[in-house]
Formats: sequence, C-alpha cells, structure tokens
Amino acid sequence: MASVMERAALTRIDAIRMTSDERRNAFAQHLTPPETARLAVSMFSELSADQLFVRCLDLGAGTGMLSVALYDRYDGHIELLDAVEADPVLATICDAELATIGVPHELFQEDALVGTPDKLYDRIILNPPYKKMAASDIRQSILPCRSANLYSAFMAVGLSRLAAGGELVAIVPRSWMNGDYFRSFREYALGNFSLDAIHVYGSRSEVFSDTKVLQETMLVHFSKRKQIERIVVSQSVDKDGEIVRTSYHPQELIDPKELVVRIAPEDANGLSETIASLGLCPSTGKVVDFRNRERIFEERPEGDDIFPMIYAGNFHNGELEHPLRIGKPQWYQAKTKDLKALRQLIKPGAYVAVKRFSAKEERRRVVAYPLVLTGDVALENHVNFIHAGIPRNVVPLRSVELARGLSMWLNTTYLDTWFRGVSGSTQVNAGDIKAMPCPSLEKLEEVGLIWRADMGQEEIDRICKTLVQN
Ligand SMILES: C[S@@+](CC[C@H](N)C(=O)[O-])C[C@H]1O[C@@H](n2cnc3c(N)ncnc32)[C@H](O)[C@@H]1O
Repeated sequence: MASVMERAALTRIDAIRMTSDERRNAFAQHLTPPETARLAVSMFSELSADQLFVRCLDLGAGTGMLSVALYDRYDGHIELLDAVEADPVLATICDAELATIGVPHELFQEDALVGTPDKLYDRIILNPPYKKMAASDIRQSILPCRSANLYSAFMAVGLSRLAAGGELVAIVPRSWMNGDYFRSFREYALGNFSLDAIHVYGSRSEVFSDTKVLQETMLVHFSKRKQIERIVVSQSVDKDGEIVRTSYHPQELIDPKELVVRIAPEDANGLSETIASLGLCPSTGKVVDFRNRERIFEERPEGDDIFPMIYAGNFHNGELEHPLRIGKPQWYQAKTKDLKALRQLIKPGAYVAVKRFSAKEERRRVVAYPLVLTGDVALENHVNFIHAGIPRNVVPLRSVELARGLSMWLNTTYLDTWFRGVSGSTQVNAGDIKAMPCPSLEKLEEVGLIWRADMGQEEIDRICKTLVQN
C-alpha cells in the first residue's frame, strides 16, 4: 500500500497537470515536492514528554502536501489540523486528502490574511504564495506588520498564531532577510520570536524545478520563545543530497542595527563602512523604455536635443560602449519644453553603473562598470547608478578614479560572496547597494588609478585584496 506521502505526491502531480498556467499564476501555486515537505517538517522539535498532542495549522495548504507531511511526522499525536486555502478547487482536493488519511482536520476556504482562525497552534507550516502586496492593500491594516509581499504577510499571520513554545516552519524566498521592503516584517519577527534555524539550497531553481520557480528558496524555523543561543544553518547542495549543518550565535547572523539576517557570519575582514555611510547614493536608471516610446529612436534623428540612451547591454568588455548594436534603440530625445524628458537625463560626470539583474549564467550577481560621462545621457531602468547626491538630486562622484576603484571593488569575489550571503535574489536593488560594505573613498581612488577595462577576475581580486586587509 502506498504511504501517505506517496499518495500526496500523486495528488500533487495530478493537480499540477490539471492547473492552467493562468490559474497557477493567479494563486501563485507552486506545490511543494515531497522531499522538501519532509525536510520542512523535520525542522520541528520532537514532542516533549508532557506533550501528547499538537494543534497544527497549514496556511495556503494547496493539495495538502505539507499537512500530510505533518501528519506523517506526528502520526497519532495531532489534536487538530486546520488548513486554509483560497482556491476552491485545491481546497476541495486538500479536504479529501486529509479525510482519506483520517487526520482530525478542518478546511477553511478563505483568504489566509483575513480568514485564518483566531486560535493558537503548536506547529504551523506554510509554503505561502509569492506575490507583491501593495502598500495600499486594505488587508495591510489587519496584519501584525506591514508587508511588501504576500509571503511575508502569511509568515506574519502564522507567527501571530503561535502558542507559547509553538513552532513555525516556512518555505520562502530569501528576500525577507535584508532590504527596506521587509524591514517591518523583520522587526516583528526578530523582535517577538526566536529565529531557530535556516536551511538554504545550493542552486536557484531546484526545489520547485517542476513548476518553474526561479526564486532562491529557503526553509526557516521560528518559535515563540526568547531568542535561542545557537541558530542552526544547514545547506543542501541538491534536492536529495547531503546536508551540512553549522550553528552560530545570533549576533553573528543578525545585524541589530540594520536588522539584516545573514546565512553566514561576516568575513573576518568585515569592513565597517557601507556605500551609504560613505555618503554615496544608489539610484535606479530613470528611463523606463516602454513608457518613453515616443522619445527613443533606433537611428539618431537630426537635432541637438538628442542624447545617448544607455541600456545594461551597452556595458561591454568592462566599459560603456555607445552606440552599440544590442537590438535596443540607442537615442533619446529630450525637447527643450519636455521637462519630464529633461529630468530623466543624467548630467556629465563620473558614476558607477550596477546592473539590476544578473543573467543565470553570469558568474557574479553584482556586475559594475565605471560610468564616465562627457555629456548628458538617458539611463534605462534596468541599471542602477551610484552618485554622491541624494535620490532627488544626482551629484557626480568626486573623481573618475573613485568611479573606477568603486566599480572594481563591487566586481570582487569578496563583495559577490557577501551579497549572496545576505540576498536570495538575483536582483540587485538600490537598497541592497546602500548596505554593501565598502573601503574608504581614498583607498578606492588609489586602486582606481590602476583600473583597466580588460581586467580579469583574478587581477581584480588580487588588487582589491589590499582593501580588506586589516
Ligand atoms: C506556493 S503554494 C503552496 C501550496 C501548498 N502549501 C504546498 O506546499 O504544496 C501557495 C498556496 O496558497 C494559496 N493561496 C494563494 N493566495 C492565498 C490567499 N490569499 N489565502 C489562502 N491561500 C492562498 C494558493 O492557491 C496555493 O495553493
């Protein structure tokens, strides 16, 4: 006879097959494979000697894979299992699945942010939907903290339902660990609960490879008690592979000021300055090309109100090349009376450009170039640039050497490793850049003197090594 997990795996596959891409996207349905479900429930503690039964909750239960894994883990010791699922089709499937295995349960076909039962639970599990949540979303006001994404909102709702000593395991992207968007969630979670364990996967897509998820996924375990003394960080190289475990003191992983959570302690050479503390400001290229169609041109039109239009693809072989045949219009028109167009231009001077998105095959996530401008240019929105002003008032960096030295620094393996340690995303946002560790401006200018466009990774790392030696 098939085990309950084997049954649940078949139910999951059937549901994936019958679900259209539109419906999957509308509900952000990425159903957990059985191996990941097993690993997730293995993070929960054993029942204590005086604990005969647990009350469980599964938020966004889908076909019930995680509920079934909980049942498998605490067989015979589940007092009740509440499952919340918004999609009526999956809710029905989940209800039937839980009825078949005979676990005492109740299915709530509800929006979890609104209709999660107001009870306390000992074990809460979730693989929440991943979707942006607007600041104006009316549900924000009933959440324990403001949320930039449904997934952190689900986590916050789950945490708020933990009984004393209760535990929550969530399968989530890594983006909650840093950045301004999730700060309010981190304040709530780290301020009121204990971060007990983190599990990270080695590669980007493997967990949900059969449902095409590219977000880097992690498992996180919180409990309702004082922060414990050792946080366990485990890592698996692939879905079925070996797991390596290490444990750290919370101070090694949680930066109390920035409230950033890392998966490994800072480098022993940890620098104390950041891009922001040195007075530098990352901004995002202002021109969204599809909103400026009437202003951009493939061939340079006549006139002196025409400016170079710079895309990520214009950074090539270590420096800016323009015009370049990259299949994107290379010219931008800003007529004298078109104030919006004029405001989108960047003035001449030295800056550093940082690509916002790295391609999967790119070796580094952080890819930077000196951006030295002799005239005004329009910078496309997929490129960030670092300047010395404030977001509303761009001021060039103080020297070309600084732009060169800083771009070299951002291209080091050191910085890339740091970034991978704090961010699960392939995207590099202005907020991420602000927090990047950075040597002094003088030191950057010194290495900037020896910059060349054709430097290889080893050369960059060797030269910049002097910047991190104490
Ligand atoms: C990432 S899937 C995970 C499903 C299941 N827990 C699993 O691990 O296989 C997220 C689930 O949340 C459901 N969902 C999306 N928005 C929801 C909401 N607002 N309230 C409750 N469930 C929701 C989706 O239909 C989907 O089943």
